[in-house]
Amino acid sequence: MEKFYVTTPIYYVNDKPHIGHAYTTILADVLARYHRLLDVPTYFLTGTDEHGQKVQQAAEKNGITPQQQCDQTVVRFQELWDKLEITNDKFIRTTDEDHKKVVQDILQELFDKDLIYKDEYKGHYCVPCERFYTEKDLVEGCCPECNREVQEIIESNYFFRMSQYQDWLINYINENPKFIQPDHRRNETLGFLKQPLGDLCVSRPKSRLAWGIELPFDEDYVTYVWFDALINYISGIGYKKDEEEFKKWWPCSTHLIGKDILTTHTVYWPTMMKAMGIEMPESIFAHGWWLVGRDKMSKSVGNVVNPMDMCEQYGVDAFRYFLMAEMTLGHDASFTEEVFVTRYNSDLANDLGNMLNRVNKMIFKQFDGKIPAVTVEAGDEEKELQKATLEAVTAMKESIPTMKLDSGIASIMTAVRAGNRYMEQKAPWTLAKEGKMDELALVLYTAAESLRIISGLLSPTMPQKMAEMRAALGVPADKIEADVEKLSHWGVLEAGAELAPIKALFQRIDTKKVQKEAPKKKKQQPKAENVVELIDIEDFGKVQLKTAKVLEAEPVEGADRILKLQLEVGQEKRQIIAGIAKFYTPEQLIGKMIIIVANLKPAEIRGVKSHGMLLAAKKKKKLTLVTVDAEEFPTGASVG
Ligand code: MSP
Repeated sequence: MEKFYVTTPIYYVNDKPHIGHAYTTILADVLARYHRLLDVPTYFLTGTDEHGQKVQQAAEKNGITPQQQCDQTVVRFQELWDKLEITNDKFIRTTDEDHKKVVQDILQELFDKDLIYKDEYKGHYCVPCERFYTEKDLVEGCCPECNREVQEIIESNYFFRMSQYQDWLINYINENPKFIQPDHRRNETLGFLKQPLGDLCVSRPKSRLAWGIELPFDEDYVTYVWFDALINYISGIGYKKDEEEFKKWWPCSTHLIGKDILTTHTVYWPTMMKAMGIEMPESIFAHGWWLVGRDKMSKSVGNVVNPMDMCEQYGVDAFRYFLMAEMTLGHDASFTEEVFVTRYNSDLANDLGNMLNRVNKMIFKQFDGKIPAVTVEAGDEEKELQKATLEAVTAMKESIPTMKLDSGIASIMTAVRAGNRYMEQKAPWTLAKEGKMDELALVLYTAAESLRIISGLLSPTMPQKMAEMRAALGVPADKIEADVEKLSHWGVLEAGAELAPIKALFQRIDTKKVQKEAPKKKKQQPKAENVVELIDIEDFGKVQLKTAKVLEAEPVEGADRILKLQLEVGQEKRQIIAGIAKFYTPEQLIGKMIIIVANLKPAEIRGVKSHGMLLAAKKKKKLTLVTVDAEEFPTGASVG
């Protein structure tokens, strides 16, 4: 039987939930809701990862027990998920007795099979990341993840024989291309597996870390964080406890993760499952990161986006919508309040809200708030809107298994815009004035029917607002939940169905207010280091780089930093202005073969026209031109 089992990572309780945590959980929720809509039996698991050094330290600092520390902080996640309308079937905590027992049973079983053994271990340990590294893992002697100092530690520990599964894992990944998604993440894991795979340390001596699950075969040790955390995906559905329930859901359809925990999920977890003799999940999908503007989100920078605040200010559904529509799965996305407000105003307030308002208001005014009966034939325009709407159904359905939610949502918005155009074309307000009631009924019915389907398609993303919208379209209260069968059919709205009145579904946000507040916040955000905004190859392809030869160079009057250059670019002669007068004399430039951006919009600098830009490398007070490494080379050749 087809089923859908989706998981999120379990979140550390030592941190307040932020937009990144909210994103993964909303994504899982949207996927779960879609599958329920399709009548696919669905199970959605999320929860918290509660053991480890950070919790122990926080508890010590606060003078409470680690368990009390967890009990206090887990609430932040649970409250947020309630607020965000998350429909998880279970919330697992790694401090749950059930979970702890499963972890211990697994450890014992693997120990009995000699897949876990004791050895002396010398390593470098990063306290904040709670990870051991070998000498070669370190970057300039520091933690490769967080750049902080590491401690050298020699101790006896227990190890899982992960290394013996290396060849098996490489083959498995190669033979199951859907296993690690998207493709570039699969390649990343395969790249990682080119190095010899070591065994995995699965324990900590209690003397160093007491807050963990005790090893069943050695009371002086607790488990290593990942061996505890990853097991939640099976303990949460009854592994070793309720085999029937476990079989019902396992293998998992999708483990959703952030790209930061790729190796643990695509290397440690599969080898652990192999050792346990359980089937592999169908897919592990790693999404990108939410940046704030171009910066990495971090507490020290002070730019962490709090989902609660966003929901309070703009509403839960708008926040959910933004996250789903804005991020292309697999890539990083950028959050700023301005981008949020722009999308909100254009997609939700203008396009969707506006169309619903018009239709609802006119049906109230002209047909007493009841869906009108259609008595005339649909024409080309009606058929066109019907086609656009049903195309959105297909697009949305396709976007789920391919994890292209943003493009599914984009096609829904295309249908919404087609609806607004249809309204403009048909001008029902004029039809009403002219008393053409049959035609008016057709137009309003067609528009309402299109919106009914759209509301169904968007209901997993915006459950509350779409329920309101459906009521405003006369979908009977007992059918307020979207029904996928009826979604794919045209003509479901029943004549005479009563509409609920609606005020603006999405109030427009005053952009001036947001802009006024934005610069204040921005100032407090120093640039994060080492953050590179990644672009697609298509983005790079937009830049046309060409070889060019400097024919002439001369200073520009009244401007001591710039030079005016005449270039040969293939058949063409071009003039550009370059800010290099402090580094090169005109004579040094003549005859040089350089690289220019050839498709830059022309600009006027100090009253002189510039048709392009040359490339140069600059660091502090040094500058050097990027030149071509060949004695003779044609100008106008493309570079890339
Ligand atoms: N406890 C581990 C996971 C164990 S899973 C068996 C952990 N927890 S975490 O609290 O640090 O959260 C991890 C997840 O939060 C990431 O994998 C990702 O899903 C999400 N995000 C955290 N920051 C993020 C962004 N800035 N952007 C998007 N998601 C990111 O790691």
